[in-house]
Amino acid sequence: MNKISIIGAGRVGETAALTLALQEMCPEITLIDIREGAAAGAALDIMQTASHFGFGSRVTGGTDPALLQDAELVVVTAGSPRKPGMSRSDVLGVNVAVINSVCDHVLEYAPNALLLMVTNPVDVLTWHAWKRTGWERNRIFGQAGVLDASRMACFIAEETGLSVRDIHTMVIGGHGDHMVPLTRFSTVNGVPATTFMDEATIERVNERTRHGGAEVLALRQVSSAYNAPAAAIATMADAICHDRRRVLPCVCNLDGEYGYWDMTAGVPAILGRNGIEQVVELPLDENEQAGFDASIDSIRADLDSL
Ligand code: LAC
Repeated sequence: MNKISIIGAGRVGETAALTLALQEMCPEITLIDIREGAAAGAALDIMQTASHFGFGSRVTGGTDPALLQDAELVVVTAGSPRKPGMSRSDVLGVNVAVINSVCDHVLEYAPNALLLMVTNPVDVLTWHAWKRTGWERNRIFGQAGVLDASRMACFIAEETGLSVRDIHTMVIGGHGDHMVPLTRFSTVNGVPATTFMDEATIERVNERTRHGGAEVLALRQVSSAYNAPAAAIATMADAICHDRRRVLPCVCNLDGEYGYWDMTAGVPAILGRNGIEQVVELPLDENEQAGFDASIDSIRADLDSL
């Protein structure tokens, strides 16, 4: 892959650009933001780390949507972030307008790209971008599960004292308070995670996972999480750029999977050079399916308000 563009040079977009450059994900990375100087300044700052880190990727930034020209992957982080006490749905109205203009620019300058949505509420906006572009559903997907699963892994490591490197977790559903951490599908190098945690510990981990973003925001007050979201973007970009066909929880447009059509939510999927290569259907038990259904209901409430 030659070029990745990131729309939105806030903390998530800027940190993602730095992370992609550090990993030399591709030769060209562009950063676009409507705020005069924000993206250009971020790009310049990142380029001035290149001699320290020794990366050869070139990062440029500006306000001109033509910076999207021929991007193969477009990462969308632009929009209004939530403030302490707000839910992700509270920023839906303002961010729909942002996504409309983002989609129009992408259609004009990068009509063959894959679109990785990050702006919240991510499930609804991924659905909206899918409709707005009219693209095949594999080309438009969102980030949430990779982030939420990394939070779950962090909390399991903290609770058990085991290496986070061995902890593999799965979180499905919407990126909101109704997300569904799947302990039964989480392992410590193949050993069921339930081997190392009692019921009370599992519930603590799941509760912190569901509110992982809010916990960071409540502590920082002036900023949502951005290091872990940027790392999750890099993980997904890596799977795509190198056609790794990793099985990762992604926000996917559903076409019958898990019993839903014309709906968008986090589910495990094979992620590769064509985007969502395949949605993976897990054999959920009754409780897990009920949790997933409740999560879908909250996404549907947002969709109905569009
Ligand atoms: C979070 C925001 C980015 O989960 O949704 O931190």
